Amino acid sequence: MNVVKTIEAVRTMRWQNPSATWGLVPTMGYLHEGHISLVRQARAENDFVAATIYVNPTQFAPTEDLSSYPRDLTRDLALLEEAGADLVFTPNDALMYPHGFQSYVTVDEVTAVLEGASRPTHFRGVTTIVAKLFNIVQPTRAYFGQKDFQQTVVIRRMIADLNINLQMIVCPTVREADGLALSSRNTYLTPPQREAATVLSRALKHGLTLLNAGERSGDVLHQEMTAIITAESLAQLDYLSVAHPHTLAELAQVEDMALLSMAVFVGKTRLIDNMPWPSLTAVYGEA
Ligand code: PAF
Repeated sequence: MNVVKTIEAVRTMRWQNPSATWGLVPTMGYLHEGHISLVRQARAENDFVAATIYVNPTQFAPTEDLSSYPRDLTRDLALLEEAGADLVFTPNDALMYPHGFQSYVTVDEVTAVLEGASRPTHFRGVTTIVAKLFNIVQPTRAYFGQKDFQQTVVIRRMIADLNINLQMIVCPTVREADGLALSSRNTYLTPPQREAATVLSRALKHGLTLLNAGERSGDVLHQEMTAIITAESLAQLDYLSVAHPHTLAELAQVEDMALLSMAVFVGKTRLIDNMPWPSLTAVYGEA
């Protein structure tokens, strides 16, 4: 596995064999099984796998946890090597945002809601860095986790709108045995908060159960899931949504598909989770 810090080094390796297929797994490091599942899938579907580790400052608001974002490069590299990555790109801020930088990629409607409503500058940072990484690596396929569902919707829109020549693959959320979605932010939780954090997946599963039983009212789904969050004293609901998984528009009435999603504060830690209905495959096709 080659670990490189320059764009030239990435491009040299990428174009050694122009007909080879490359899978890209962009990350902010502090890897967990969710990230590694993306690397494994990329490994299975491509000749070569590139991962990137970069904590992208433009997707954090000044009030957010950029400086305290967890980092462990040595461990990350060991995990990537074990999972079969061929190339790891670990740029720094001066390389990604050099003096004079002033070009950003913005996606309009699907960034205005859900995470975008609470974090207005977040997706501009994500789309800008992801577009840069796409241009640097020029992968055949790029892998993203379902856990950040809105991010996948936004990136999919950017790929279509800007005619970016790659296939985006969305891989299912990896969960702990008790249902908690894996996230680097879970490390911030105290033991009682960790227990309370299962409330997100419990509420979402309840929503799926109602949908499977024939419930179609957005209001009823909202009320039922909200009641589960409210009953957990350590949890504070930020938002809860029953939306169309492609447009992210809120649904008064569910028809063929829906995305149940939420953000919940457990203590000071803001956790997000989602469950698509009837399934991720129905919404996105085969991963
Ligand atoms: O999902 C993430 O970890 C980040 O948003 C990404 C896609 C690596 C861009 O910084």
